[in-house]
Amino acid sequence: MIKARSEVEQLEPYAAPLEGRRPMLRLDFNENTVGPSPKVVEAIRRLPPNAYATYPEYAGLNEAYAASINVPARYVEAFNGVDAAIHTIFDVYGEKKSTFLTTAPTFGYYKPCALQHGMQQDEVLYPDDLSFPLESMRERLRRTPRLCFICNPNNPTGTLLEPQLLLELARAAPDTLVVVDELYADFTKKSVLPAGLELDNVVVLRSLSKSAGLAALRLGFAIGQPEVVSRLRRVTGPYDVNAFAVIAGKAALADRAYVEQYVRQVQAAREWVTQQLRRLGVRYFGQGGNYLLVWPPRACEVVESALREKGILVRNMRGKLVIDGSFRLSLGTLEQMQRFMQAFAEVIES
Ligand SMILES: Cc1ncc(COP(=O)(O)O)c(C=O)c1O
Repeated sequence: MIKARSEVEQLEPYAAPLEGRRPMLRLDFNENTVGPSPKVVEAIRRLPPNAYATYPEYAGLNEAYAASINVPARYVEAFNGVDAAIHTIFDVYGEKKSTFLTTAPTFGYYKPCALQHGMQQDEVLYPDDLSFPLESMRERLRRTPRLCFICNPNNPTGTLLEPQLLLELARAAPDTLVVVDELYADFTKKSVLPAGLELDNVVVLRSLSKSAGLAALRLGFAIGQPEVVSRLRRVTGPYDVNAFAVIAGKAALADRAYVEQYVRQVQAAREWVTQQLRRLGVRYFGQGGNYLLVWPPRACEVVESALREKGILVRNMRGKLVIDGSFRLSLGTLEQMQRFMQAFAEVIES
């Protein structure tokens, strides 16, 4: 058998428990829990057969996203989900044996991308109170890593760093490409944009997977100076973003009111859930995003499987540094959270 590159031979596949979730209340992957704007579904339905048979056209897509965040289109590039943007950034900047710096625990796809390029991973742990380890990151950035990923708010801890502090970190590290993963920025309204665009070592990642409800279609964006974005474009295939994602993305971006209304629903649900958790004396944490970490007063495995029996999925953080013993709870509508809370209270009180 022909062996793969030595870095790949040592890799474990990135596996997520994604099967059989459709009939359940899915509070495990931070997806939108009600689906996209009806205008998205309508736009897909209206597609004629030749739209399936023709390679996709991209005119207007980057422009529509750029307009939605108020930046010029030349700063924006679409990807097959932010996962593909992450992979591309490592393809372009992930020099073998150079250092990749991030926080831990954080989004799980950065690490395999770094390892498959033979990079050395340097991780700064969140402290027990899950605040952002600002001093340690500042210090580690002084060692000039090649790449640094900061997820803000961080998934899964929910830690939120003020954008201006993040920009200070990036300004002090001009030889490090600082990637700010803002997947949940619609829920926090805090962003390094537009100020980050003045720095040529900052790239911001955004997606239509979560707030806009297009996770299945795969559409994400990288935003950075044109010199950086043009380098990312050099390594992608000509049709990596599929035609359904283009049509759906444009329709979703044309109906921002729908996204804003969903975000408000999630924020109201967050208020209610945190109030209930306090009432029950249950520890939780989360400073932003459509999710919280919850430490159940019984073994997490027992609570997770009892919730599953009741048709509700949450994501167990078993084995993760600092947050072992908690589960991540995605936030949906108030009604969905009421269903969760009733089941959760029954499980922890039984
Ligand atoms: C922090 C973070 N970054 C990136 C992604 C991937 O997003 P996409 O669905 O756009 O590939 C996720 C998905 O859960 C995420 O939580």
